[in-house]
Amino acid sequence: MSTTQTDKIEINKVATSKINEVDFENLSFGSVFTDHLLECDFKNGEWQKPVIKPYAPFLLDPSARVFHYGQAIFEGMKAYKDEDDSIWLFRPDENFRRFNSSAVRMAMPEVPEEVFMEGLNHLLKLDHEWIKKGLGNTLYIRPFLIATGQGVVANPSDDYKFMIILSPAKAYYSGEVKVLIAEHYSRAANGGIGAAKTAGNYAGQFYPTNLANKEGFQQIIWTDDATHTKLEEAGTMNVFFRINDTLFTAPVSERILDGVTRKSLIDMAKKEGINVEVRPVLVSEIIEAVKNGTLKEIFGAGTAAVVSPISGFSYRNEYFELPKIENSIASQLKDKLTNLQHKLTEDPFGWTVKVS
Ligand code: COI
Repeated sequence: MSTTQTDKIEINKVATSKINEVDFENLSFGSVFTDHLLECDFKNGEWQKPVIKPYAPFLLDPSARVFHYGQAIFEGMKAYKDEDDSIWLFRPDENFRRFNSSAVRMAMPEVPEEVFMEGLNHLLKLDHEWIKKGLGNTLYIRPFLIATGQGVVANPSDDYKFMIILSPAKAYYSGEVKVLIAEHYSRAANGGIGAAKTAGNYAGQFYPTNLANKEGFQQIIWTDDATHTKLEEAGTMNVFFRINDTLFTAPVSERILDGVTRKSLIDMAKKEGINVEVRPVLVSEIIEAVKNGTLKEIFGAGTAAVVSPISGFSYRNEYFELPKIENSIASQLKDKLTNLQHKLTEDPFGWTVKVS
């Protein structure tokens, strides 16, 4: 292992990379991690010096608050390599902003921009060989913050650990995605934590999603908790509905995550002249549209999932299959977005940021 110190960061490199053990053509999402990680502790009321070190398990006290009260947040981002071997991030400022707003909601300290951004840049440069060129190849970036303070008293921790780990990734979903519209379980409630990217929001979905899986559905479309009449998110994604030639998606709220892919697709679609309406989308109007043939597409949008077409949905034990369409809006937007992210086309929005 070799060590480099600056006054801002310490870098301890692995002696031997494990990259040659990885089959980059057959990656299952989020299961392989690069050689290094970034770690920065919060102790005695302040952030310590960030360290990049070999990826490895670490020790925590069994009473650490993260295990008992789920004081934990995360982000999902991606890095891309262009044809000239430059590394690019997509709207990292949006992830940084959302990370710290999740931290505030979970009574955690905000991570300084230089720890997050400069730490990430150093880490990406060190593990640059793990980012493969070509559409479909990405490096998924998982920044997270956990409460490490000891003691099972139910109040916020004094100590925290911020980390960034990196995982080479292809698509999150492969094959058809069929969804079930939620009628009983809820993902989020007004005044709750639905807009924060916090661990429990995802854990709370596992049980209802397992039940849906048993019925042959990959994901659930969550509805509002109070009336179950408004369509909100689809599993780990925001969700869009196309009726005739208009796209509809719910506005972000206390219950709905402010997705970076979601807001990018809205802007891209508008620029393409596609009519987009951001307003509550009712279950009843989707049922009416599927019955009268005007519901053309449903797709999910997220960093991991990119743009994921939904082939059909079930509501109150009735299954509705969507038409198979050539040149769907989902596929057009996905191509535009991934070409822009991989720097294969111009970026008129200024969303791509070079790692340097
Ligand atoms: C992402 O799309 O990055 C997410 O955070 C979803 C995750 C549960 C895979």
